[in-house]
Amino acid sequence: MKWAVLVGGRGSNLAALLESGLDVRLVVSHRARVGALDIAARAGVPARVLLPRKDEGPVALDRTLAEWLEAAGIEAVAAAGYLRILRAPVVDRYVGRILNVHPSLLPAFPGLHALEQALAHGVKVTGVTVHLVDAGLDSGPIVAQEPVPVLPGDTADTLGARVQAVEHRLLPAAAWALDEGRLEVRGRQVRWRQTSAGVCAPPGGTRRGAPDKSEPRFGSDTTQVGRRAPCEH
Ligand code: GRF
Repeated sequence: MKWAVLVGGRGSNLAALLESGLDVRLVVSHRARVGALDIAARAGVPARVLLPRKDEGPVALDRTLAEWLEAAGIEAVAAAGYLRILRAPVVDRYVGRILNVHPSLLPAFPGLHALEQALAHGVKVTGVTVHLVDAGLDSGPIVAQEPVPVLPGDTADTLGARVQAVEHRLLPAAAWALDEGRLEVRGRQVRWRQTSAGVCAPPGGTRRGAPDKSEPRFGSDTTQVGRRAPCEH
């Protein structure tokens, strides 16, 4: 599938998607002069900045975005750090084919400053959610989640670094599952089908050209969450 990645920040998730070998054909940022645009340039991926024109509402803005996506032949979209709610022109066109990564265990702490919200609330565990995008705010069906413990003395920076490390694994895994038609969506329930090659990890773990495409699994041992068991030979 041809992917667009919607960005607005450092671009570490964009880098992870590119590293996984996903076919990224277009990057769109809601802000100029952000790290994500440099990452796109270094990778040779066309990048554009989408800024609202004077008196232009969010729906009109997303008409433009939909035109850009269609002109580039985009089939699926990943949002990572794109801080605008996507509207009907994009959401309706790409229903079931837009992923967003959010730094909390939704439905807790949707919207902006999710890490700060979690710290202020005093939760002991937060995490990462990858979900399909619908017309609401971080409200679409959940594709993958993984918890991240909040440690004593954590700041948004220290917690954010651990959260992002999880994002860089979870978002590419979900994008590949969607890309390969392995996500089965029924209402709010999203089921992952196994790869034809099974679900065990390649020796040495994930590497470029061999992305970890298995469904992140939850268990009592959280250190194993989201990782594949090694193959049994
Ligand atoms: C990520 O933490 C994501 O969860 C949030 O915005 C951040 C983007 O980071 N939606 P990056 O630009 O991919 O480094």
